[in-house]
Amino acid sequence: MGVTKLTKYLGFLFVICFTSCVYNIEEELYPDAGCSTVAMSYQNDINPIIKSNCQGCHDRQTNNGNVTLEDYINLIKFVNNGRLVGAINRKEGFAPMPQSAPKLLDCEIEKIEQWIDQGALDN
Ligand code: HEC
Repeated sequence: MGVTKLTKYLGFLFVICFTSCVYNIEEELYPDAGCSTVAMSYQNDINPIIKSNCQGCHDRQTNNGNVTLEDYINLIKFVNNGRLVGAINRKEGFAPMPQSAPKLLDCEIEKIEQWIDQGALDN
């Protein structure tokens, strides 16, 4: 094997090793990179998303657009009438939410939709 060929060969090996190492590290650091939506809980998963993105305008006091999302008993009304899912997905015919802010992260939307699919429990 000539020197040039050998250098190319080693370079190739290096690239393979390097990319697979980076891949492994990433997998260790972000085990949930795929967004975990198993066994969603209102308390642990859903309410925190609503609290940090929506409650400034939709707690009992502010009640923007006559929409209160504080507490399960209020939130569930907008789950059942479909307004919540329509608004966060910015579907036509719904006021796009959160208002004047970027769309929720895909993972946050998935969590909410999965929680609803799993029965929208007060869990
Ligand atoms: C900056 C204030 C603000 C924030 C933040 C906000 N909203 Fe709203 N929301 C409003 C206002 C104002 C309305 C009434 C808008 C209208 O009817 O055009 C509204 C209406 C709604 C409606 C009724 C929509 C419809 O078309 O019937 C839903 C559901 C809703 N918001 C959910 C949310 C959710 C979920 C979040 C968080 C992800 C959120 N909002 C964040 C101000 C806000």
